[in-house]
Amino acid sequence: MKLNAGVMGSPISHSLSPRLHGYWIKKYGLDASYLAREVKPEILEQTLKDLPRLCLEQGERFRGTNLTIPLKEKALEIVDILEPSAEKIGAVNTVIVAEDGKLIGRNTDGIGFRDNLAEKVDVASFKGATALVLGAGGAAKAIVYALQEMGFSKILITNRTEARAQELANHSGGATNSIKWSEKETYLRDVDLLVNTTSLGMAGQPSLEISLEGLKTRAVVTDIVYVPLKTDLLLEAEKGGHVAVDGLGMLLHQAKAGFEAWFGVKVEVNADLRAYVLEGLKK
Ligand SMILES: NC(=O)c1ccc[n+]([C@@H]2O[C@H](COP(=O)([O-])OP(=O)(O)OC[C@H]3O[C@@H](n4cnc5c(N)ncnc54)[C@H](OP(=O)(O)O)[C@@H]3O)[C@@H](O)[C@H]2O)c1
Repeated sequence: MKLNAGVMGSPISHSLSPRLHGYWIKKYGLDASYLAREVKPEILEQTLKDLPRLCLEQGERFRGTNLTIPLKEKALEIVDILEPSAEKIGAVNTVIVAEDGKLIGRNTDGIGFRDNLAEKVDVASFKGATALVLGAGGAAKAIVYALQEMGFSKILITNRTEARAQELANHSGGATNSIKWSEKETYLRDVDLLVNTTSLGMAGQPSLEISLEGLKTRAVVTDIVYVPLKTDLLLEAEKGGHVAVDGLGMLLHQAKAGFEAWFGVKVEVNADLRAYVLEGLKK
């Protein structure tokens, strides 16, 4: 029977996920579809309940869905089984329908972040290292979790709204600490990985004002903003001789686990997929 999955959120029309999953469906010749569904938090639970039956009426089997803004937190109270990744991060980005119909909630954003970095650097070398995270929004939660899993021994979090940085540090526990937004540059000399998780530097948003002068040359810089692909932060990092990692790969890599769970095919991120998704960004 044809398999069905997709992405839900509001707004959803801008999502690159249908293009990304569509690439793999075509590449592997699967009898499957991946659809963008406009869903608001109030109807998420009912939608997830109704979809197995509605899909069956169309001759398809509903396998699950990705979730994006504003549904990731709402799903925590809806799924039957919450995997540790989603529980720890406090958000679900992937729902999988189990054989018995139960809904499993997972978060793959942290894996996406790690696997993207791993394309350019040996992530095992970050064991015992120090990271500075700019931002404390939804994406930062997953990234701090990923940094902890990667073995960073010190994670500094800074955010325009300081209370959110403190809250994230408290929630994450371990060796996470919040520092003042105005003092972030003074910490750069100790940092091995600098991560921008704010929307600053994104097309249409204010720029990220930070001087990388104090950063060690061997420190790695990554930005999860991917429009533009090379943000000013990454351009400055490259000028300073740092390894600079763009954010598109995080989007691509976070998608792998869902695809594998829904459609039973192991997929990879390669240059061809990257180019195809980038083409979609220009449309
Ligand atoms: N590559 C990927 O796969 C991926 C995945 C998820 C998100 N993203 C991108 O990451 C960015 C953040 O996403 P999110 O979901 O975490 O959003 P979010 O929850 O709304 O958080 C936004 C963050 O940006 C900060 N910020 C916004 N405007 C600012 C300003 N003018 N000055 C200083 N800080 C500012 C916010 O600080 P306050 O708390 O002070 O408001 C907060 O830390 C977006 O650009 C998104 O497209 C990329």
